[in-house]
Amino acid sequence: MGRYTDNPAAIRALVREAEVHKDTYIDPEIFDLEMEHLFANTWVYVGHASQIPNKGDYYSTTVGLEPVVMVRHTDGSIRVLYNRCPHKGVKVAGETCGNTGKFFRCPYHAWTFKTDGSLLSIPFKQGYEKTEFSCCEASGGMAAVQAVQVYRDFVFCRLNPEGISFDDFFGKSLSTIDNMVDRSPEGKLQITGGVLRYINRCNWKMLVDNQTDTTHPMVVHESSAGTAASAWSKAPPGTLKPMAVEVFTPFVSSYEFFAEMGIRVWPHGHGHTGVSKSIHSDYSAIPGYLEQMEAAYGKERAHAILHENRHNTIYFPNLTMKGPVQTMRVFKPLAVDRTLVESWTFRLVGAPDMLLERTLMYNRLINAPTSVVAHDDTEVYERAQEALHSRGRDWMNLYRLYDKDEPRDDPQHETNGTNELQMRNQMRAWADFMTASMQGKTEGGAA
Ligand code: FES
Ligand SMILES: [Fe+2]
Repeated sequence: MGRYTDNPAAIRALVREAEVHKDTYIDPEIFDLEMEHLFANTWVYVGHASQIPNKGDYYSTTVGLEPVVMVRHTDGSIRVLYNRCPHKGVKVAGETCGNTGKFFRCPYHAWTFKTDGSLLSIPFKQGYEKTEFSCCEASGGMAAVQAVQVYRDFVFCRLNPEGISFDDFFGKSLSTIDNMVDRSPEGKLQITGGVLRYINRCNWKMLVDNQTDTTHPMVVHESSAGTAASAWSKAPPGTLKPMAVEVFTPFVSSYEFFAEMGIRVWPHGHGHTGVSKSIHSDYSAIPGYLEQMEAAYGKERAHAILHENRHNTIYFPNLTMKGPVQTMRVFKPLAVDRTLVESWTFRLVGAPDMLLERTLMYNRLINAPTSVVAHDDTEVYERAQEALHSRGRDWMNLYRLYDKDEPRDDPQHETNGTNELQMRNQMRAWADFMTASMQGKTEGGAA
């Protein structure tokens, strides 16, 4: 047991008003405690209902480091099970996704389980007849995660059976999901185009921090997006702007642009950049789309939906979303210095195909490991992960536009988009959730 285990005061001391201690990013004990407390006490994204449209469809993933499987049960509901056989502990669903039919079958001794996790059968069962097997843990089958919530097809779970409610945890931040879903004339999203998966050699929080760090793009992406912008500036007048240029060039917008874009935070660590406008605001119209939206929602509502151009939304702890381009990234912690990045894309059901084309292009150009933009960020994450071990300094600095009286719980408060407010917001939530169950107060959640 190290110095942070069962020591909420020591953990709280890692997060000052506008500074964060380096141990939060480099200490393996802190990482283990994050898995035990933070990822168990918060509502963590599991998957999307469109990945499992038919009964028996499943998708296996992780919540923190816990292997889980999300499955469409025989009654049509979505269940999340711990992906662990109650017999000898084998991972039952071995593939990432598939259809298991009416039951899961463990590959080791062929115990079978219904898709709600309950035990269906054991081969050569008479071996258990004169035992007290029916009273033991394994007779309950695969354990189900109790706290599961499906919100507009996005599936979340909280591993601890007791704790903050889904509505309290997310509150008004759900408006970003709402907006992305409402962009479909049919109010429906479908995961499409596969997923980009790669590992960054850094702590998962570095990726989260970077999503609302608006003073890095014009620096770190100067060589990539800046080159695209300068090439485009030499195009003869009247040249049709290629979609790729439209996606690339806003990354080298000025500090003033990002400042005016605005930032807003919600309680429990959520927040977003791009309140009044964003780097997605000036995309050209897709032929036929506005007409479809007006027909579906009426003129006023359709315009309101499309006018909302949020940049990055953080759903604390590890989900981030870009509604106007229908992309979503999940930062899955693997170790204190290893993070699996998944970048997903959505089709707006009923919308023109060209929108999906833009979504896929965006993912390829900005989020892919082969992208000329994403590896700019990767390099700085890895350099930070290495240099944070230095004895030279102990703290990471979040003082940009810090105000000691800044609102903590006021979602109406919008401020300068270069403010490091959201990074402070998520670290305050981090300290709350890390210590909540250490102090034996999971009920009602963190303060
Ligand atoms: S470990 Fe699963 S059936 Fe034995
Ligand atoms: Fe970046």
